[in-house]
Amino acid sequence: MKPETPHPSRFARHLLPQGEKGWSRRALLGSTLALAACDRFASAEPTPLSVPPLKSLAPCPFGTAIKAMQIDDPDWATLARANISQLTPEWEMKMEYILADGLDRPRFDRSDRIAAFAEANGMALHGHTLIWYAQGEEAFSGLDGAEFDRAFDGYIAALAGRYRGRARSWDVVNEPILDDGSGLRDCHWSRRYGHDGYILRAFERARLADPNAVLFLNEYNQESVPAKGAQFLKLVERLLKAGCPLQGLGLQSHLWIDIKEGAIAAFMRQVAQFGLPIHVSELDCTLRSDNKLDFRSQADRITRQTARVSELAEAFMTLPETQRFAFTVWGLRDTDSFYRQGGMDDGRDKPLPFDSFSRPNPMAAALAAAFQT
Ligand code: XIL
Repeated sequence: MKPETPHPSRFARHLLPQGEKGWSRRALLGSTLALAACDRFASAEPTPLSVPPLKSLAPCPFGTAIKAMQIDDPDWATLARANISQLTPEWEMKMEYILADGLDRPRFDRSDRIAAFAEANGMALHGHTLIWYAQGEEAFSGLDGAEFDRAFDGYIAALAGRYRGRARSWDVVNEPILDDGSGLRDCHWSRRYGHDGYILRAFERARLADPNAVLFLNEYNQESVPAKGAQFLKLVERLLKAGCPLQGLGLQSHLWIDIKEGAIAAFMRQVAQFGLPIHVSELDCTLRSDNKLDFRSQADRITRQTARVSELAEAFMTLPETQRFAFTVWGLRDTDSFYRQGGMDDGRDKPLPFDSFSRPNPMAAALAAAFQT
């Protein structure tokens, strides 16, 4: 079994990029600065932010990524029960986990546990992810044409079928587009079925496995890399023309503080034109930058983070109600973030809405304020 940490080269793009009703923006920024400033002076107690449960403010299910072991962490479970109405398995519903013992011995133990936790707590379940270029190469290696087809179709039938009627939705295909937006990725799936072909086949198989789940295409950096955004829109158009049962668009929204002001809102307007449900599916906003000589203070970084997250949540709020499918953060507490795991942890990043003591960060306040506009 591989460690549950992201592969640094795989996520280099993310790492090195490259109040209550009536809260005013000024009050929000004020508390942002107070909290951030106190980061540098450990003796000063920050004024704790008071943010209502996010699930009660969001205009749609408010989700988080979950790892099965977090169910056993009472602090995490309390925070999740208070704020969360939807769950996305962070890792244990991916091929890398499910097929770790081989194609014939799928491991559903942890995804079953997450699904049971969701049901016991009245939370929806979003499946993530059926087909991803980054996974499955090993499990599928050595299969000849017909065997490959049987395994591909069988995997989707088994996984999406297992959660039929329980998963509200699925990321059917994850991250098909090249980082620079110049085209679609070559991978073991595209080599067998073609670049659009594997996507079409995956959606058709998912449709058969669970006719009622809402089927999503999920991607990152559409709002921050214009060529990638344009490529995403072209792909969606092509898939729809080809009759693909694509029903929803996932914007991962792994943001960073230097994304150009206005870019996030501009992309939201463009992507909304399809009229499909939108899922902000993996929101976090790292405070890091790739500039080693970047001496900006933590307070400055948090102010910028607040601006980017507010822009995203406000843009989401401008969507028609039918298009606001769900809004998901990629972890609750900073220390839950994949930026804070293993070798990638600089001990300082605050990419998520709550701090390591489950206290609301300025990001939670920014989301609360936007959801009330
Ligand atoms: C990451 C998880 O956070 C890690 O725990 C895991 O090891 C690797 O994957 N885009 C996605 C997510 O669609 O599945 C990724 O999650 C983050 C980037």
